[in-house]
Amino acid sequence: MSLSIIILAAGQGTRMHSALPKVLHQLAGRTLLEHVYVAASRLDHRQIRIVYGYGGKMVPDTLAHLQADWVEQQQQLGTGHAVKLAMPKVPDGDDVLILYGDIPLITFETLQQLVSAAASSGFSLLTSYIDDPTGYGRIIRDNDGKVICIVEQKDATPEQRAVQEINTGMMVVKGRLLKRWLAELDNKNAQGEYYLTDIVARAVAENIVVNTMQPESITEIHGVNNRAQLAELERYYQLVQAQHLMRHGVTLMDPARFDLRGDLEAGRDVRIDINVVIEGSVSLGNNVSIGPNCYINNADIGDGAVIMPNCVIENAVIGSGCKIGPFARIRPETRLAADVHIGNFVEIKKSEISQGSKVNHLSYIGDSEIGRNVNVGAGTITCNYDGANKHKTVIGDNVFIGSDTQLIAPVMVGDGATIGAGTTVTKDIAADTLTHNKLEHRTVKSWKRPQKKK
Ligand code: UD1
Ligand code: CA
Repeated sequence: MSLSIIILAAGQGTRMHSALPKVLHQLAGRTLLEHVYVAASRLDHRQIRIVYGYGGKMVPDTLAHLQADWVEQQQQLGTGHAVKLAMPKVPDGDDVLILYGDIPLITFETLQQLVSAAASSGFSLLTSYIDDPTGYGRIIRDNDGKVICIVEQKDATPEQRAVQEINTGMMVVKGRLLKRWLAELDNKNAQGEYYLTDIVARAVAENIVVNTMQPESITEIHGVNNRAQLAELERYYQLVQAQHLMRHGVTLMDPARFDLRGDLEAGRDVRIDINVVIEGSVSLGNNVSIGPNCYINNADIGDGAVIMPNCVIENAVIGSGCKIGPFARIRPETRLAADVHIGNFVEIKKSEISQGSKVNHLSYIGDSEIGRNVNVGAGTITCNYDGANKHKTVIGDNVFIGSDTQLIAPVMVGDGATIGAGTTVTKDIAADTLTHNKLEHRTVKSWKRPQKKK
């Protein structure tokens, strides 16, 4: 027995009021559809077929990296119609798992159980009991508790509407049976749609038992229909992630004010203060401390590094023992070796800085290589851009750069060189020399400042 998975994702999501198809909206930095895909793809499966429609090629183009077959549904004629379009390449002997692209928090564990539950009869259905079932299809059972059909909200009688067991939409059906029942569907109902849910009554007519089961958590079956629901699921998911991190030795000063939109690998005794946003793939060594209001995207931060408040770090490697910030911006392709200090209002771009060097105040370092134990004075700027091209600044070990220095790239500064404050460096500097511009300090005695005209 093999498993084919169909994910329905053709709908527009009218209530999102968005140009983006609903399934491309993001939860914790990943599209809704990818969340479903990730959970589903952990199952042992033959194929994943995704039905798309609204927004044309936008969904398959955006998610072209997924290992999936894309099936276009030009007109959304109903869930039954959508599944039918995906069936031709599904072998009769396969079990077919049907999922929705807008129910993002379904778990692998629940899906695994749902697949197992179909083993006996070839049909399992994920249902749930909810206080307010408005809008959902209701699970109708006979006096013995056996499922007999699903009735949609708009087709339901008042008694049926009172039923609180609802159809989540997720099910597993034997391919051979599904194909037969889909061929028999009609759209004679309140919405004029081909309802997938009608196959339940067909199964019952053939004496095929519909096995039901419920997910462990109700959030697993919550769909996203509007932005308020999206925000609710986001907060829930963030809390789950935060709790996971705390269980593994990360201190979060406030789990409600921590956002992870990607993957975080963290060592022991990491401490993360409030309002930190982590995106992409980030790894933190042991004893890393991150101050409040930091944004970290795709970074590797070594043991014992201290990131002080209000820093932005993107696509960078920060060595162990580094001190960054407060208010530092570390831009892509920056590599800081161990024990580097980057202070306030410093921007570093595409630069390598070796061990023990310091850029502590108000500087811009771009397209540079800086050696070990270099001190870069306040207000130093690498002038890396001539208006057309970027050029490199290479600085040796043990260099001392006085405050307010401009290094006009391309330029090289030899080991041990000293540059006086306020120097504009236009030529390479040899090792162990002192360089400063010819600038005299002049004093005018009894100087009167200009007066305001009356
Ligand atoms: C459906 C179920 C209902 C269930 C509810 C759970 C049917 C007839 N009804 O109702 O019993 O309680 O989901 O959320 O199945 N889609 C397509 N193509 C289509 C129609 C829908 O891809 O032609 C996709 C949508 O994008 C969505 C999913 O299928 O992801 C469900 O469609 P939706 O219209 O929201 O179904 P409901 O009316 O909510
Ligand atoms: Ca829906």
